[in-house]
Amino acid sequence: MAAARLLAAALSAIITATSAIAQSPTLTITGTTSSRTFTQQDLLAHPAIRSITVTDPVYRRPMTYRAIPLPELLKGTGIGADDYLQARAIDNFSVSIPGSLATATSTQIEGFLAVETPAAPWPSIPGKPDRVSAGPFYIVWRLVPPARVSSEYWAYRLAALAVTDSPLKRWPGLAVGADVPAGDPIRIGLDRFVALCMACHRFNGAGEGEQGPDLGRPMNVTQYFQIPALKKLIRDPASVRRWPEQKMPGFDRAALSDSDLDAIVDWLAYKAKQKR
Ligand code: HEC
Repeated sequence: MAAARLLAAALSAIITATSAIAQSPTLTITGTTSSRTFTQQDLLAHPAIRSITVTDPVYRRPMTYRAIPLPELLKGTGIGADDYLQARAIDNFSVSIPGSLATATSTQIEGFLAVETPAAPWPSIPGKPDRVSAGPFYIVWRLVPPARVSSEYWAYRLAALAVTDSPLKRWPGLAVGADVPAGDPIRIGLDRFVALCMACHRFNGAGEGEQGPDLGRPMNVTQYFQIPALKKLIRDPASVRRWPEQKMPGFDRAALSDSDLDAIVDWLAYKAKQKR
């Protein structure tokens, strides 16, 4: 009996020790020439860390964080305004934030890396069934209205940040022809597609999204969806069809204006015509 209890105690000590190892999270930051991995403790000891309060769309309320300004964090990475900062989450979900935004030092828009403190863990994200928090690393934005950033740029549960070329440089096949005038909705649609959709969808093979289908091939979505139904699906996928494992988040008007939604569909339709 005593032996069994001893064994149980020993086992639980081992389990505690291994889960402590599994729980010591790191963030890898890859610049244009080198890469460095930081522990949570390293980042909490960063000289530029401070307390900030932001209106947080993920937690849907004001939140206070220990956070490092992105321009300070990215010093030495070689990031330029035309580059992108690819933020990759623990589950491999990734989003590309324009370098101009990540390095902005304006008082209207400031980006930060919030670092969860082990002694004061963050609450779980509302509406997430798996009860995970946005930690341990989370990109947040301090904004002075009317300034806003795409909701996708509030990138949580991060494992890595990497400086990359612009998606258009990496995947020139996404581009719009030179004959399309500057300011044409098709150009806006491409910009919105890259910002909002490419985290999950590839297009004609371009991109790294893995959660949703390629929207360009074998067939372009505008060739098998009626356009009004396609727009309805992007706003609220469950309003068109539903099943238990459905994953795509809807984009309401706060996340995607009517004109930007039209522009994305214009770009998709333009690419379908271009292919023919
Ligand atoms: C978080 C990941 C994610 C994002 C971001 C996302 N989607 Fe999706 N999308 C999916 C998944 C997953 C599916 C497959 C159906 C499902 O599980 O909901 C899907 C399905 C679709 C479909 C249906 C395709 C078909 O052939 O059935 C369309 C159209 C679509 N998405 C368009 C978009 C557009 C446009 C955007 C950007 C405004 C976007 N999606 C952003 C994950 C995403």
